[in-house]
Amino acid sequence: MSNNNSDRPASTAGSSVVWALGACALGAIVCFGIFLMLFGYVGSRGPSGPGSAGGQMMARTDGADVAERQQVAFDDASLARGKAIYAQACVACHGQNMRGGVGFNLVDGEWVHGASPEAILSNIKTGFPDRGMVGFESLYSDEELQDVVDYIRSRREGWESGRYAIWPIAADIARDDFSFEQVMQDEPTKAGRFGAGLVDYGLPEMENFAMVVDGTIHIPAGTPAGVWVQAGGGGGVEVTIDGEPVEPVYDLAGAIYPIDQGVHDLTIAYSTADKPNWYSGNLNIVVLNPETGERAFPLSEAGKSFLNDTSFVIDAQQRPRVIRRVVNNLPSSTISVGLPSGMNFGFNTKSCAIVGAWEGDFLDIGPNIDGRGDAPSVPLGEWMFHEPQAIALSQQGDCRYVGTSLQDDGAPVFAFELGGVPYTVSGQATDGGMAFVYAAAQGRSAGAVSMPEVDGVEMRVEQAGAQTRVLLERTRAQ
Ligand code: HEC
Repeated sequence: MSNNNSDRPASTAGSSVVWALGACALGAIVCFGIFLMLFGYVGSRGPSGPGSAGGQMMARTDGADVAERQQVAFDDASLARGKAIYAQACVACHGQNMRGGVGFNLVDGEWVHGASPEAILSNIKTGFPDRGMVGFESLYSDEELQDVVDYIRSRREGWESGRYAIWPIAADIARDDFSFEQVMQDEPTKAGRFGAGLVDYGLPEMENFAMVVDGTIHIPAGTPAGVWVQAGGGGGVEVTIDGEPVEPVYDLAGAIYPIDQGVHDLTIAYSTADKPNWYSGNLNIVVLNPETGERAFPLSEAGKSFLNDTSFVIDAQQRPRVIRRVVNNLPSSTISVGLPSGMNFGFNTKSCAIVGAWEGDFLDIGPNIDGRGDAPSVPLGEWMFHEPQAIALSQQGDCRYVGTSLQDDGAPVFAFELGGVPYTVSGQATDGGMAFVYAAAQGRSAGAVSMPEVDGVEMRVEQAGAQTRVLLERTRAQ
């Protein structure tokens, strides 16, 4: 049960939908836009019916509704207070990520006991004592519980509602000859709507198809987000956010379309054109953090099973990767860096030391995606050394981590102070291994370095002007 549009019969919606498509030529760039017009639909429901949010979205022509919806703003101080109370009183049953446990999922937009802020507040106050949730009215003030309600609402994620339509396409159509515009001039063979659920690209039940999904989506505050669409390589996917075509950033296993927090209109058009021998029938669509690769929540059925797979290897194929999370064998507060050459290391912000280095793939962050337990991420490949061994400046004194900056190629430079003197260190790939480059401020020498002694790994120090370079190489002798 839910408060949104999922309870509307798909057939009514499908038959009253008029699909139209607008494409505009902008110099050499052809921009792509899809508009679903709901003349019959809006007329039959009335503009203020329960489907009005979806109706506005579908009927958008001037962008005003979209702008309005994006302004659902919460007060930061209120959210912080709500978050603290949630962590104290609710997390045990509703989970770190609010996706449920003993208690219900609070971020998927499905409300069994009432969706309005007032209903949620009242439910928290009285609880469901016969079902395992005490009432909180004697423990917190109304203002405090209102903060919790805001915090919960700010974390809303996933589809609110949407529609899909499917067209068959010729088996042998080449990508260049295919256009959604043309295909959509025909009546779809199948069309319908989905509520807060997931899109299913397994629906078409045909080998070659074009399928367009258009819906309202919530992106919670707090972390950068992108919509990752894994469509088996190559084109075939066009994404628009709030009516604007979006170019993907290619990373991980596919295309990521960056998206801001808030409420958006998301259209994902997919065709199997030019994929004669490739048909998965389903697309992995997942919202993730494009900076870390950490997966957040699924948008498609296939994406959901994909998320349930706890193994998630992050490597640094094109650019260095920087990840802050707890890693096996490395102390907490370590920032891990993967270099495209297949060399990886960890810089610890508490000791200002290089606390580990390994060769091979970067990390499997699977074990703790989605708050599943507190298991650390797993470094892949082979250790060269790790804590308690470390590479550090010999200079004595208290260490203070200053910050991380990224070079043009995405490689991080760590800045820190040791005994009040500022230094930087970065890791670089070398021909046979890796080098840590230390520099001190004002052209001074970074001085001596202490290094572990490790069988099978040669480490030596080179001075190059004011730079101190620590070179690591595996001495392949077995
Ligand atoms: C001891 C476990 C437990 C704790 C602690 C708990 N809940 Fe619940 N909560 C539940 C259960 C179980 C349900 C589902 C009740 C039912 O079966 O209808 C629920 C339901 C809810 C609902 C209704 C969801 C809906 O779909 O309408 C809200 C809202 C809610 N909890 C918020 C909170 C908040 C906020 C806190 C902390 C202040 C909290 N809960 C603490 C177990 C808990």
